[in-house]
Amino acid sequence: MRKKIVAGNWKMNNDLNSSVALISEIKNLLASKSLNAEVIICPPFTSLDAANSLIKDTQIKLGAQNMYYEKSGAFTGEISPLMLKSVGCQYVILGHSERRTIFGESNQLINKKIKAAVENQLNPIFCIGETLEERESGVTFKIIETQMREGLEGLTAEELANLIIAYEPVWAIGTGKTATPEQAEEVHAFIRKLIGELYSTEFAEKLIIQYGGSVKPENAAELMSQPDIDGALVGGACLKADSFVKIIESAQ
Ligand code: G3P
Repeated sequence: MRKKIVAGNWKMNNDLNSSVALISEIKNLLASKSLNAEVIICPPFTSLDAANSLIKDTQIKLGAQNMYYEKSGAFTGEISPLMLKSVGCQYVILGHSERRTIFGESNQLINKKIKAAVENQLNPIFCIGETLEERESGVTFKIIETQMREGLEGLTAEELANLIIAYEPVWAIGTGKTATPEQAEEVHAFIRKLIGELYSTEFAEKLIIQYGGSVKPENAAELMSQPDIDGALVGGACLKADSFVKIIESAQ
């Protein structure tokens, strides 16, 4: 049985004060609850250090939304894996569709970042997903396969032991249009099968595959009850403590 993992991707929201307020609320709502899901929050870089202090002795773990693959140097504006570790991050979201489309990140760049994450013991949350145009022209599986093959190229099952894959159909992100549980499950099953072919069925069976794209308290339970959906990567709904906690509690 795989555990469920619910992660909140705050994106470019919340300054330091509002981050502290949101984390405090989440903490209060989760306090003394026994949860079926592991919980990760991914605030912006500027709030990570404060978040790290606030979540000490709680069930909440910390992740970042992006990073560069070098350790240090002349890379103005970038953040390294070591910097993320120094503020308590255990996870890092890589390959998010907003990074791919707005900032032009390629599968090759994402591959370097995944390698850097695993070399530095950061667990990657590797995002993949097709656009509406790609879905409508029937190439969803081809796109997913290319993103996976190129993003994971050269990485072994051992190196990827703590990998999380997040399937986020681009057309469902921030649009309020969620993939139906059947649509999501179909792609999740495909991802698991491909991982089985690229690595082993044993590894595939252990892999956590989250769904992301307009996950809300109203649809979370049904999505996460699908056999191959092992949690959620939540955007908008994680910015409200009660919605985020309801989603976490939907995980059985
Ligand atoms: O990474 C989470 C994400 O892209 C989904 O965003 O706002 O549709 O839940 P949202």
